[in-house]
Amino acid sequence: MQGVRIRPFVPGDLAAILELERATFGASAWPREMFLEVSRAPSGLLLVAERGRSIAGYVAALLRGLRAEIVSIAVARRQRRSGIGTALLRRALRELERRGVRSVELMVRVDNSAAIRFYQRLGFRRLGRVPGYYEDGSDGLRMRSFFGGTL
Ligand SMILES: CC(C)(COP(=O)(O)OP(=O)(O)OC[C@H]1O[C@@H](n2cnc3c(N)ncnc32)[C@H](O)[C@@H]1OP(=O)(O)O)[C@@H](O)C(=O)NCCC(=O)NCCS
Repeated sequence: MQGVRIRPFVPGDLAAILELERATFGASAWPREMFLEVSRAPSGLLLVAERGRSIAGYVAALLRGLRAEIVSIAVARRQRRSGIGTALLRRALRELERRGVRSVELMVRVDNSAAIRFYQRLGFRRLGRVPGYYEDGSDGLRMRSFFGGTL
């Protein structure tokens, strides 16, 4: 985490984010328009983790009234397990709470045990399995966290 700064996205980050997104999610990577939309929409939140002059990770969220959805999060492969994902998600949760959100949900592939463990550590709990949620037919796992820790 040394030398890592979490800050709002600026358009100059786009190329680096797209590279990270493609390296992480391959064919199901988000297109540039989606990132631009989330960064511009009043209901959107897009934060990046900057290390030196490079982008080590990002998190994207959408607000829907009292609820929000973490729509994507990724940390560059070589920089994982050093707390960057935690710093990004914590900062996003703080910002969402500040904007009046009461609960935060997300969807994760059921076989993505690293991410599931990561979310659990940050207070998310399993809500239920969604069969065939992903384009390739994989099941999704819905998770949720409430501010204030009440479940
Ligand atoms: C999920 C992801 C964002 C986590 O980022 P990160 O910077 O590596 O996370 P952190 O270093 O903050 O990890 C915090 C804790 O989460 C858990 N965790 C993270 N990666 C894990 C792994 N590969 N295996 C087991 N537990 C893991 C651990 O409890 C870890 O704490 P520890 O390192 O002290 O054991 C990152 O693995 C990633 O980009 N994955 C690919 C994209 C992805 O799956 N995104 C989620 C899609 S829904």
